[in-house]
Amino acid sequence: MKEDFFSYQAQTTPHPLAMEVSHARGSYIYDSSGKAHLDFVAGVSASILGHCHPKIIAAVEKQLNSYMHVMVYGEYIQQAAVSYTKLLASLLPPPLETTYLVNSGTEAIEGALKLARRVTGRSQILAAKSAYHGNTMGSLSLMDFEERKAPFRPLLPDIGFITFNNKEDLNKITKKTAAVILETIQGGAGFVVPKDNYLKDVRARCTAMGALLILDEIQPGFGRTGKLFAFEHFNVVPDILVMGKGMAAGLPTGAFTASHKMMATLGENPMLGHITTFGGNPVIAAAALATLKEITAGSLMSQTTEKEALFRSLLTHPLIKEIRGKGLMLTLIMESSEIANDLVLSCAQNGLILFWLLFEKRAVRITPPLTISEEEIKEGCTVILKALNSLQQ
Ligand SMILES: Cc1ncc(COP(=O)(O)O)c(C=O)c1O
Repeated sequence: MKEDFFSYQAQTTPHPLAMEVSHARGSYIYDSSGKAHLDFVAGVSASILGHCHPKIIAAVEKQLNSYMHVMVYGEYIQQAAVSYTKLLASLLPPPLETTYLVNSGTEAIEGALKLARRVTGRSQILAAKSAYHGNTMGSLSLMDFEERKAPFRPLLPDIGFITFNNKEDLNKITKKTAAVILETIQGGAGFVVPKDNYLKDVRARCTAMGALLILDEIQPGFGRTGKLFAFEHFNVVPDILVMGKGMAAGLPTGAFTASHKMMATLGENPMLGHITTFGGNPVIAAAALATLKEITAGSLMSQTTEKEALFRSLLTHPLIKEIRGKGLMLTLIMESSEIANDLVLSCAQNGLILFWLLFEKRAVRITPPLTISEEEIKEGCTVILKALNSLQQ
């Protein structure tokens, strides 16, 4: 299987982890030798309810037995998608009321960019340095690392960059700006939380200039930081909210939400302003609906604060310089990228899954399923501390 993986399946790096997966349940992934791996990564923040959550399986099975794909997005009335978008609207502040369902995070970003240009009639988009919004051409244009963009140029024109948490840079938002796009909490940059009233100031400047504020909650969304969406911590409401990853608890999806009036512009002048075959797919929408109900019905969201505190209290070690992030979106900042790398690899050998961040190489990702138990947190932290002790020697 390993040889075939390298021969026939396109690779993203020369050195993937290449664990051969047998099955996964709850907070554990089992490899083909039967070994259990405690999952502190959750498929990079996507398997938000753990693996194979029974309510998600039941919702998917029920939908599979009625119908799968029947029509392209937007033509037919399909109960799961309608119920999902209605429930989401009831949980969001105005004017976030109408949701466009797509297939992935990056497609949702593309839709949000198109919507911002369509609504404002302007072209300039400002993104934050060290941001990650996805890998299709538009999303890639929002990345400020030239070495990653150069081979794929030309990309989108009229993209500018501001420094996250730098209030002086807000002067770059002008009447030419269609939108400012930010991750509410920066992911790949090292789980950077907005300081003081930064997001409120961004919001105010956007409003003053007639620019739209797009918040990318693809990673922090769906309860990961203790609120349904992380912007709720910071007293701001974006014009366009983008989501994905945990939205359907491990099935591929994405969405963007805005006011009904704004969203209507994608359906006229020209019609079909954004179209997709599989967006809003009923099976995935059923999973998304069950996920949203599960996250909001019980105490999973409030538990993330207690679980964060447990992680922070257990993970004290001289090699850990800082723990950044919020809720169950945490990262250990190590002294060097070498230590971070050794920690991930050593834990992998000892049955604990950790992962790297895209741009901050001293960081080690801890984004477990929200359903992780206290015992599992303790078990994983013991593995981390043991690994750090041996790295220290
Ligand atoms: C903040 C953020 N935006 C966008 C994306 C892209 O999402 P996808 O990989 O589903 O296209 C990601 C994925 O890691 C992300 O973390």
